[in-house]
Amino acid sequence: MTGKPDQAPAATLVIFGATGDLTRRLLVPALVNLLREGLVGDGLNILGVAREDMDDERLRSLLDEFVDPAAAGWADLRRRIAYLKGGFEDDATYRAIGERLGGADNAAFYLATPPDYFGTIAEKLAAARLLDEGAGFRRVLVEKPFGHDLASALTLNERIVNLVSERQIYRIDHFLGKETVQNILVARFANPMIEAVWNNRYVDHVQITAAETVGVGRRGRFYDATGAMRDMVPNHLFQLLAMVGMEPPNSFAADAIGTEKTKVVSAIRTLTSAQVRTDIVRGQYVAGRIGGEPRAAYSDEADVDPGTRTETYVAMKLWIDTWRWSGVPFYLRTGKAMAARETEIVLQFKPVPRALFRHASVTRLPPNRLVIHIQPDEGVNFDFLAKLPGPVIETAPVSMNFRYADHFALRRLTGYETLLYDMMIGDQTLFQSAEAVEAAWAAVQPVLDAWSRERVRPQEYRAGSDGPVEADALLERDGRAWHGLRG
Ligand code: BG6
Repeated sequence: MTGKPDQAPAATLVIFGATGDLTRRLLVPALVNLLREGLVGDGLNILGVAREDMDDERLRSLLDEFVDPAAAGWADLRRRIAYLKGGFEDDATYRAIGERLGGADNAAFYLATPPDYFGTIAEKLAAARLLDEGAGFRRVLVEKPFGHDLASALTLNERIVNLVSERQIYRIDHFLGKETVQNILVARFANPMIEAVWNNRYVDHVQITAAETVGVGRRGRFYDATGAMRDMVPNHLFQLLAMVGMEPPNSFAADAIGTEKTKVVSAIRTLTSAQVRTDIVRGQYVAGRIGGEPRAAYSDEADVDPGTRTETYVAMKLWIDTWRWSGVPFYLRTGKAMAARETEIVLQFKPVPRALFRHASVTRLPPNRLVIHIQPDEGVNFDFLAKLPGPVIETAPVSMNFRYADHFALRRLTGYETLLYDMMIGDQTLFQSAEAVEAAWAAVQPVLDAWSRERVRPQEYRAGSDGPVEADALLERDGRAWHGLRG
């Protein structure tokens, strides 16, 4: 994470699921960005594997769609893309991959397939000895969702760790590829003024929001079997929670950071069934308007069961039982079809004693807040109070705003650039260990269990709103309110 990066070593990236959305929209454009930066060179080859009937040239033209044809290096990389038709369960596929790779090359296997195939592909790769490291490295990248619940994540980890060493496994959570997520570490640990107040002595509560305006698009089948909790909470939202909640690591080395993050996620207090009822809100959008455009109800989306009980929104109040955070609630929320796209972290600070300001016109002074905007408008705001000019002491809320775009040339990246590059140079800092994934599932498992036991119906919220009113009530009960979404 420090110093000027070198070019990654030559390698073949074998992508299972080469014709899918992830490969086309994110992986290949990310590789093209890396080429432009000189972070990968002409030693990079791509072997796409999928079941469709096609050839090298057809795969290349499929990939053209999301790449600028004039992008530096694309014409060359394009020539180094090959296609292999094969079923993920067929031994012949793995023999063919072996023949293409030869013995000694560096190779990384990217599992961009439906999650049900992860275990099988890893087992077949191992059986074909494609994961044996000789002169070159052999690495496996696994996309989320890593399991469907705690039990399936444990099983998948067991299947994989018996075949390949943990050092060869790269579990992806693409939120970690976002610059602003990584910036949380710098904001906290490079700035003593910030870190000094980053604890339960000064922080009243923390809010973590990942609001989206998009619905489920073409992913109805996957999403209806998954829901907002599994899709976003134990992975993306907990990554943010871990970055906010962790203790300072000894270094930026993968193990040091991973240990601290896992400690914090493991310290999330186990929710009782009663708390699941009072502290977790489950929502599903009904028809509404977003940005003036009509939006159908979730239950009317393609490939969604019309009688669906799947949640498209979740809000929750969690406690982290560490010395730093004891007594500080963490409120998390995420949802589809909301009023605005906004991923942010808010630290709200405790009020000052009222004595000095008892004559002020308001009964409660607006709080100090540190707002970290993860996306789309990356930056950090600090809301504080200033004196209103005039003869008496009156306060006025003001804000200091840092916007990334005002200071740095921000390139539009996919978020996968850093992840792919780090994998190629063997840096696991931004990847998830087996323990981290399991700790996250363990924290949400009581909620999943209670929901399925009690067949909890989601609360309705209008598409284009801020979420269900029950989520507002969750904070109001504690004398607090959600930070307003922009837009
Ligand atoms: C994915 C989820 O992991 O993250 C999607 O499956 C979600 O449902 C997406 O839309 C959000 O990622 P980003 O980078 O657009 O915030």
